[in-house]
Amino acid sequence: MKTIEDLLDEGVAGKRVFVRADLNVPLSGDTITDDGRIRAAVRTIAKLAAAGAKVIVASHLGRPKGAPDPQFSLAPVAKRLGELLDKDVVFATDTVGESAQAAVSALAEGEVVLLENLRFNPGETAKDDAERGAFADQLAALADAYVGDGFGAVHRKHASVYDLPARLPHAAGGLIATEVAVLKKLTEDVARPYVVVLGGSKVSDKLGVIDHLLGKADRILIGGGMMFTFLKAQGHEVGGSLLQEDQIPAVKEYLQRAKDQGVEFVLPVDVVATDSFPDLKNPVATHPVTVSAEAIPGDLMGLDIGPESRKLFASKLADAATVFWNGPMGVFEHPDFAEGTRAVAQALIDSPAFTVVGGGDSAAAVRILGFDENAFGHISTGGGASLEYLEGKTLPGLAALED
Ligand code: 3PG
Repeated sequence: MKTIEDLLDEGVAGKRVFVRADLNVPLSGDTITDDGRIRAAVRTIAKLAAAGAKVIVASHLGRPKGAPDPQFSLAPVAKRLGELLDKDVVFATDTVGESAQAAVSALAEGEVVLLENLRFNPGETAKDDAERGAFADQLAALADAYVGDGFGAVHRKHASVYDLPARLPHAAGGLIATEVAVLKKLTEDVARPYVVVLGGSKVSDKLGVIDHLLGKADRILIGGGMMFTFLKAQGHEVGGSLLQEDQIPAVKEYLQRAKDQGVEFVLPVDVVATDSFPDLKNPVATHPVTVSAEAIPGDLMGLDIGPESRKLFASKLADAATVFWNGPMGVFEHPDFAEGTRAVAQALIDSPAFTVVGGGDSAAAVRILGFDENAFGHISTGGGASLEYLEGKTLPGLAALED
């Protein structure tokens, strides 16, 4: 795989270089609530600009439906990117239209333009190869070279991720190189005990990775909304908690396989519960109670792991040599349900293990809860991408950079 260093050695001065970044950050109105992905994208862009390239940055944000939708505009991201680069970032109000073409034509060496959300064009995410290819052709016409650096999107077979690199000389950016090097450490010769902590709301999103990890991890700790499907599969009452009934058979099978293969599954022993899901935009006190994970009353829903579970999880992380954590332990956006996620983050920091935080939500949680990012071995910018990498899948955006 050619790297950005190779590209820089060949010389990029005066060349139009298209950088596919993942600037899909959480927004509350126009306010960016976690700028981690923008910060992670800066290095590659700054290097290219410093070498005299005309840099065209592009990304998706959210999941608009193939048409412009102001709530998913990258305009606030252009502003933040400019602050972090300490230079003006021109914002094109379309992807391949008049605004983008004019902005790119006007670029001088070392200048940066950010295109509007790629997903405002239906060709970006089209299932049809020809439709994606047609959009990739239009993007390719804007540039002389391509740098793939949006690790968070490499699992998507999208025009800017998969089809565009085939149309231009291409290289992997520094962020992708770092992410792949770290995740490789978790798949080849991993230091043991290897402990995996999984959370987040849906167990269905994690089935592939659990399936794969059963042959790799020594211990798997389960928290977040997905824990209730595990608890139910063990025959416990989960009250009004989040439950994916249709996943119970799969979960039962995993629990059995774990037993057979000597992999330890650790489930919470208590949960923090309340009577209704809180308003996260205007959080007010919810009067939470701690209940046994084995008998959650019918009128309550669990929204975090409880104090005994936090201690249990910390003890199961204490002797780890490698830890991968994906998904918050509870509804960390509300202070009443943030302690489980906080405790896991702290246990990772206290552990001498090589620790990797993977996933948009868990990475954002670590920063929003005020932890020092440098206290972790690595905080990945990829949620789905890091999970699919660990599942051993071929990721379209990495495959496209190979040849
Ligand atoms: C992510 O947030 O995981 C990436 O930006 C990919 O976004 P997507 O799941 O909407 O494709």
